[in-house]
Amino acid sequence: MKKVSIKTKLVFFGSILMTVSAIILSWYFLTSASNLLRNELIKRGMEITHNLAYTSRDGILTENLFHELDSLIEAAMLNPDIVFVALLNKHGKVLAHTQPKEIGKSTRLNQCTICHGALAHTDPKKMSSVYRELTKKIFLSKDTVCLGEKEETIHFGGAVAISTDKKSLIEEAEGLDTEKPGVIGAVLLGISLKGIHVRTNNILKVSLGIILILVVIGIALSFFFSSRITTPIISLTKTSHAISSGDLGNRVEIKTNDEIGELAVSFNQMAENLKKAMDELSIEKKSLEQKVQKRTQELEEANIELKTRAEELESVNKELDAFTYSASHDLKEPLRGIASFSQFLLEDYADKLDDTGKNYLKRLIASAVRMKTLIDDLLALSRISRIKNPYTSVDSGKLVREAIKGLRAIIDEKGAKIKIDNELPFVFCDEVKIRSVFYNLISNAIKYNDKKCPEIEIGSDGQGADGAVFFVKDNGIGIKEEHFDDIFGIFKRLHGKDEYGGGTGVGLAIVKRVINDHGGKVWVKSTSGEGSMFCFNIPRN
Ligand SMILES: Nc1ncnc2c1ncn2[C@@H]1O[C@H](COP(=O)(O)OP(=O)(O)OP(=O)(O)O)[C@@H](O)[C@H]1O
Ligand SMILES: [Mg+2]
Repeated sequence: MKKVSIKTKLVFFGSILMTVSAIILSWYFLTSASNLLRNELIKRGMEITHNLAYTSRDGILTENLFHELDSLIEAAMLNPDIVFVALLNKHGKVLAHTQPKEIGKSTRLNQCTICHGALAHTDPKKMSSVYRELTKKIFLSKDTVCLGEKEETIHFGGAVAISTDKKSLIEEAEGLDTEKPGVIGAVLLGISLKGIHVRTNNILKVSLGIILILVVIGIALSFFFSSRITTPIISLTKTSHAISSGDLGNRVEIKTNDEIGELAVSFNQMAENLKKAMDELSIEKKSLEQKVQKRTQELEEANIELKTRAEELESVNKELDAFTYSASHDLKEPLRGIASFSQFLLEDYADKLDDTGKNYLKRLIASAVRMKTLIDDLLALSRISRIKNPYTSVDSGKLVREAIKGLRAIIDEKGAKIKIDNELPFVFCDEVKIRSVFYNLISNAIKYNDKKCPEIEIGSDGQGADGAVFFVKDNGIGIKEEHFDDIFGIFKRLHGKDEYGGGTGVGLAIVKRVINDHGGKVWVKSTSGEGSMFCFNIPRN
């Protein structure tokens, strides 16, 4: 919808109101003036007729013998508003007239053509009553009568009487007895309405001018007052726009003693409160920002510290790995010597040694063998971080099958049942190391199982947010919850060195290191006596 301002509306309604008021006032003024002028004219007509009736008595009595009536008519016709004048005797004979051809016509007043002309609308029978009325009027008020209006002319009639005898005059009037002395004739007069029309037209023109001026004044006043009303509202609107766009210091400059003034005061109060609240908020925000900045700085410092520590740790680990590798490597040679020479002693000097000596030598050889196994496992562990194979996308099912192939002998020996999920995913990894992960977990699942028929299941939950998640589940001896973390430590075993086929306790440490190197995690769920489930994930990248 098109936007129309309050000012436009006020000016529009103000102008309409002024125009309508001006028209009504002018109409009233015009009508009143017209009526006034008309009454004036009638009054004047009456006076003239009355004067004529009075001054024409002698002329009528002498039947215009000395043309006195003509002089009267001439004098009367000097008035430009008079259209005609007729003077008649009591028998209706026209003694003098503005139109000379009418003179001498003998007719009764009630049959007079002039009267007919004046009262054409009236029933001829009523003519007598007009005549009677004329006589009555003269006697009662010494006045004439207005006969009506025709063709822009008002007609007046007046009786010419000489008697002052009221009784005879009334009788004459009542009984229409024209033979009785008293009424001797009549005056008929016509006055033009044109003068009134001209003046009324002039008044109309003036009125139209006044209407125009009033309308112009009305529009100007509407403009003035609407400006006075709308200027504060516009100022209020502008200020509210400025405040809503962030300039909270803006205030309304209105000092009027009306509702808009009150509104402005309330508005300014509201803006003040808003500014206060915003200032408080801003201070709060600043302090919060400072706190966050401080914490961020602390965190950054802690991160740098952590990074430095991690780098130090990595370098120490590397050194340790290097040391483990070289120490293990270097230890292997003398160990091999100890084992070989002990074996030689046992074989070549068997007859010179008693049983205790032989027993000691056998235990020495066994310890050397075990130490070699330990060193080999340690070397295998240190190799995990040292050797970096390229990552490829591999079918994890294939890796599982290859691991099982390497464990075929123990599987057959234990009569274990292995179930592999059909839909094992492809993973992006170091396939040699992930194969060793499956190998270690499946080997443990078979090893730590006292059931007649060990059951092992290898599966995956498919690709998720954490990449591919795998599990190796068994129905073996299970692990107590308190050992869930320990078992991933190096050389950590929960059993005697010869129990469950023996071992060095390096297998799960290798698994953890491989999975960590791949960015994943390994964890265990288990119930002692019922079985365990080892899980790990390999992230997508
Ligand atoms: N599936 C399992 N069920 C029950 N216990 C387990 C299972 N797997 C591992 N363990 C426990 O965790 C210990 C550590 O296992 P790990 O594989 O590291 O060493 P190991 O099997 O003893 O020796 P290695 O694997 O080095 O030959 C084991 O000694 C065993 O006690
Ligand atoms: Mg193991």
